[in-house]
Amino acid sequence: MEKHVAVVGSGNMGSCISKICALNARSSTEFCNEVRIWVHEELIGEEKLSDIINTRHENVKYLAGTRLPENAIAVTDLAELGSWADILIFVLPQQFLPQVLAGLKGHTRPGACAVSLIKGVFAGQEEEPMPKGLSLLTDLIRSNLGMECAVLMGANLAPEIAKEVYCEATLGCRDPTRAAQLKRLFQTPYFRISIIENEFSVEICGALKSIVATGAGFCDALGFGDNTKAAVIRLGFMEILRYVQRFYGSAGVTKRTLMQSCGIGDIISSCYNTKDVKWAATHDGSGPLGMHDLVTTCYGGRNRKLGEAMVLTGKPLRQLEKEMLDGQRLQGPLIAAEVHRALQEEGQLQRFPLMVAVHLICSGQMKPRDFIEQLREHPEHM
Ligand code: 13P
Repeated sequence: MEKHVAVVGSGNMGSCISKICALNARSSTEFCNEVRIWVHEELIGEEKLSDIINTRHENVKYLAGTRLPENAIAVTDLAELGSWADILIFVLPQQFLPQVLAGLKGHTRPGACAVSLIKGVFAGQEEEPMPKGLSLLTDLIRSNLGMECAVLMGANLAPEIAKEVYCEATLGCRDPTRAAQLKRLFQTPYFRISIIENEFSVEICGALKSIVATGAGFCDALGFGDNTKAAVIRLGFMEILRYVQRFYGSAGVTKRTLMQSCGIGDIISSCYNTKDVKWAATHDGSGPLGMHDLVTTCYGGRNRKLGEAMVLTGKPLRQLEKEMLDGQRLQGPLIAAEVHRALQEEGQLQRFPLMVAVHLICSGQMKPRDFIEQLREHPEHM
């Protein structure tokens, strides 16, 4: 039986992965030719985004300039999609996951499985008490839909994947047969997949690196050099390892995971942005390169970029998100807040100065210029 593949989310990464899956499905007898993309409907001028994708085969809002295969079909009915799909690929901002799962709940096929590309953690609803530690988005998917959930993450800036520039990703999947099938669905000559069994470790690396990337953005804005940036990345990396060991024991993240694309690879790609233009000169949008152009031409590494912008402009993050991300949502500050909550509950704040400082700066409780001060007495140097 051919497997029906559905991509839940149509942002830049959702569009990229839809393109990859649709091209692979087209040349395979294992997957149904038609790959469906769930689109959160919005109007682009007078036209619906889903109609544009189905007629012009381009996601003009989130991945302009990339042609999507004709067998990638945009749909808007979640329940219908859930009843059709054997493989549900989640790739949308974490903020929207609970409502999407509510739309799918009770409308899934027996034997269906999920894959998450969402780099984040579940922040819960304000009125609900949260459990200790971080809540995984994949656990939310598993518990709501009653299905297994693998994870696909790595140093994967969507605009580069869209241009078919070589990169790697890590597939975390505990079932070897399913892992091999998912690899056949995702791998291309320019998107190379390594498999590891530990799903959790891939997910946690993907989430925590966004905090480090935000810190790297502060570092850039404050005018520190490459040595400082390298120190921030390394200390961030060590804090990720420390966090996982503290909260999940040695079974959490192994050295093998950290050496994967989802570990060291993702931190590096998120903290540097080689295509960055010197945007400080034009940050009010009045320069030769307007804000919108700037964002659409180099919006890879959004956490780093917004961290930098926050310090340079002094504007609140929510405002910058609106101005610079054109409908996309930022994850780093949300994840930093969740990590801070978990660390505070466990009396561990002083052991994680970098992640704590990123949260305090994002939430206006610390001046950005104090960021590096927090790292001088880092436990790694004691
Ligand atoms: P941002 O979410 O910071 O844009 O990072 C993208 C990413 O995770 C690339 O691997």
